[in-house]
Amino acid sequence: MRSGRTTLSKFLIDQLHGQTDQGQLAGLLVDIAAAIKAIAAATAKGALEGGHGYAGGDNVHGERQMQLDLLADTLMIEHCEWGGLVAGMASEEHAQPIGIPPDVQRGPYLLVFDPLDGSSNVAMNVAVGTIFSVLRHPHADAPTPADFLQPGAQQVAAGYAIYGPATMLVLTVGKGTHGFTLDREVGNFVLTHPDIRIPEDSSEFAINTSNERFWEPPVQRYVAECKAGASGIRGRDFNMRWIASMVADIHRVLMRGGVFMYPRDYKDPGKPGRLRLMYEASPIALVVEQAGGAATTGRQRLLDVRPESLHQRVPVILGSRHEVERIARYHAEYDNGTDKPYFSPLFRDRSLYRAQA
Ligand code: F6P
Repeated sequence: MRSGRTTLSKFLIDQLHGQTDQGQLAGLLVDIAAAIKAIAAATAKGALEGGHGYAGGDNVHGERQMQLDLLADTLMIEHCEWGGLVAGMASEEHAQPIGIPPDVQRGPYLLVFDPLDGSSNVAMNVAVGTIFSVLRHPHADAPTPADFLQPGAQQVAAGYAIYGPATMLVLTVGKGTHGFTLDREVGNFVLTHPDIRIPEDSSEFAINTSNERFWEPPVQRYVAECKAGASGIRGRDFNMRWIASMVADIHRVLMRGGVFMYPRDYKDPGKPGRLRLMYEASPIALVVEQAGGAATTGRQRLLDVRPESLHQRVPVILGSRHEVERIARYHAEYDNGTDKPYFSPLFRDRSLYRAQA
């Protein structure tokens, strides 16, 4: 790595050195970074310019669109459509892929993004983020929706921005996961967290426990064992965190380890999970794996899931490798009938449920 402050551009020159598409991929990532700076500026204005307001409509998932959702979406499109680097884009905010202007040359990539993840938190001034995934466009013609449906393992780059006290960009081009902090005065992303490694073991989990009664037994078992702490089979106390803004929860996992779960649940049997595969789960799974962590649906490596539709949902369990492997094992044991359902030591002999039966 070159000496001195390593800016994103310098870093990309070094990381992509020798790659045939070095200039194009670096160019697209710099365009994405420019969009992120603009979104960071808009987010930092808070309620001053009305961005916290309801935009008056719902997105394709039936979620209320905030003005900041739409602004972030527009900023991503405007920064990335003109460079001749993308052939098409897809966003959480659009039911169908977004074409590029007719007078612009088609580029070699497809860009998929969630422009403002966790935006229901915006009015509370909680950290939100942008998640992106870069795929190769498989041919020279205009892309069809089917061209986007590539498993996460085929991503050429992925990452997220977090708009917190500092704005950070965390990305991978398949050679480790690296974090950059926005130097607002200068306008540069500076490499501050090279080669992030997620500890393999951890004692922290993140899950929305209000859904507990809808979870599958293997997830109930894992969380019950964590909650039992030092008095249970794990033999140590666990901590729980839930920010309800995926990028913020994931960023914590990258910085100090832990497990993040939005597993399959039966709250709405029509949905196999809450998070979206193509612009939430897949890019974050690549970032996590490249940082030494693991990412699964519980039954399959997340990066191997082949999307069937652009806005498909998927169960997500990712973070510290040994904990994720344990949860995957609990799913396998449940599926083959060898699991050991958890009974709290407090209730083993006189279960509250049994007492009432
Ligand atoms: O998918 C959007 C999202 O806001 C994620 O960022 C976050 O992890 C999750 O939904 C929060 O879900 P819940 O509202 O169930 O806590």
